Amino acid sequence: MTEPGTADHDAPRPLVLLLHGPNLNLLGTREPEVYGTATLDDHVASATAAADRHGLDVEAHQTNHEGELVELIHGARGRCAAIVINPGAFTHYAWSIHDALAAFDGVVVEVHLSNPNAREPWRHTSVIAPVATGTIAGFGGLGYALAMQAVAARLTAR
Ligand code: DQA
Repeated sequence: MTEPGTADHDAPRPLVLLLHGPNLNLLGTREPEVYGTATLDDHVASATAAADRHGLDVEAHQTNHEGELVELIHGARGRCAAIVINPGAFTHYAWSIHDALAAFDGVVVEVHLSNPNAREPWRHTSVIAPVATGTIAGFGGLGYALAMQAVAARLTAR
């Protein structure tokens, strides 16, 4: 039995689903002046290391297909404690991803490397933000570590 205030080292660690949408597989060479030179693998590695420091496990996927993201979100139901998602351009119009996230009963963090609100007007709308616990944008790859910290804080507060 676990004493109050002590960690249960046998308890399974909460699982965070880390999702990336379209064109993010090109990170490293895609518009480096906007998105930096770190690759998607670099971001997944630093997100996973940050999650580990907070006692969280990570399962990561990237897809260029909207329906595949919807199915990955469905697969998180009842299995994952949180979803950290950079939906790429789907952020701005993919209501199917909004609806899938609305049906997920856990913490949702929307992450953007750039700050879409400081860019073209069509990027100023996020259809994901209304169903996210919170959004982190404009801090480059640091956003993923901040997202994992936010997930851990939210799960502890529950
Ligand atoms: C992005 C911002 C989106 O507007 C854009 O379509 C992306 C990347 C970001 O991480 O800054 O693909 O989500």
